[in-house]
Amino acid sequence: MKATRADRGRFIISSFVFICFLCALASINEVRYDSLLKFGRCALANINMPCKLNASTSNTLLAQSSSSDDEIRILFGILTLPDQYQRRHFLRLIYGTQTPVGAKVDVKFVFCNLTKEDQKVLVALEIMRYDDIIILNCQENMNKGKTYTYFSSLPEMFNDKEGPNPPYHYVMKTDDDAYFRLQSLVDSLKPLPREDLYYGYVIPCPSMDPFVHYMSGMGYLISWDIVEWIKESDIPKNQLEGPEDKIFGNWMRDGHRAKNRFNAKWSMYNFPEPPTRCTHELWPDTIAVHLLKNQEKWIRTLKYFNVTDNLKPSKLYHIP
Ligand SMILES: *[C@@H]1O[C@H](CO)[C@@H](O)[C@H](O)[C@H]1NC(C)=O
Ligand SMILES: *[C@@H]1O[C@H](CO)[C@@H](O)[C@H](O)[C@H]1NC(C)=O
Ligand SMILES: *[C@@H]1O[C@H](CO)[C@@H](O)[C@H](O)[C@H]1NC(C)=O
Repeated sequence: MKATRADRGRFIISSFVFICFLCALASINEVRYDSLLKFGRCALANINMPCKLNASTSNTLLAQSSSSDDEIRILFGILTLPDQYQRRHFLRLIYGTQTPVGAKVDVKFVFCNLTKEDQKVLVALEIMRYDDIIILNCQENMNKGKTYTYFSSLPEMFNDKEGPNPPYHYVMKTDDDAYFRLQSLVDSLKPLPREDLYYGYVIPCPSMDPFVHYMSGMGYLISWDIVEWIKESDIPKNQLEGPEDKIFGNWMRDGHRAKNRFNAKWSMYNFPEPPTRCTHELWPDTIAVHLLKNQEKWIRTLKYFNVTDNLKPSKLYHIP
């Protein structure tokens, strides 16, 4: 019993010293609260041994707390065809010039097996240069299960035991005629659950109820647990043929998945022309614009969002 009292005394004294030390530290350095907590844990674990906090350890603590912990990991898959070289080149410009904060967004082009000799050279060169291509084990098809092959292949492709778990919080499936503003996408995801989530633009166009019926193929995003469910469940396997995005909605319904849904309408919409019930004027509150079927529509959209405003001045060029 005496020992306990002595221990308690020692504990109170060391706690007091520790608190004074923290106050001094905080007032000198404006150290972030969460790194203090980490340091606190370290100090409490070694209550009888001094826990040195030198410049390098405190920097590491700061770096850890500000990067990996709250960063959202997104696999951004653009379904396209092997021969669409120009389109991929263009989309690399579009997404390569965006640097969203608070997330790691991996843009990947997704297609089925190569079928021509020239593809084997050209696509391999692209991979060597950009490493942003996923080739699924399938034959190109419109309504015969490419979406299923995409999602169900991912758990094995990204099963690196050393890497983070889950490898991605969210997986996007989108088209090569959609333009996403990645920072707006990331900001909209921040408050949302990272599990059992189905996010997109709900169809039919006038509807605002994400529980009826499904998200448009312009681009939808699901959480990793749903990706794993698609791989494991028999429900998607038994329902592969037909309009893919609609069928995806059926899987969610029949499997009682996606209790969390988010309708990003009208931050996602079809390009204003020709006007339909699915279109909206370009406006600042935009996450995605779809049906950018020609260069003129792309240019109008990119101009509207001032995407070249950050071009740095130089003696080497002049763009009026
Ligand atoms: C700071 O502390 C870490 C671990 O406690 C140690 O590995 C490192 O060498 C120290 N750095 C300096 C500059 O003292
Ligand atoms: C796709 O290619 C792989 C390897 O080249 C082959 O094993 C597979 O059978 C092909 N799949 C289809 C559906 O053609
Ligand atoms: C683009 O820049 C113009 C001129 O600075 C500004 O008025 C407009 O609000 C910007 N548009 C968007 C979508 O931020």
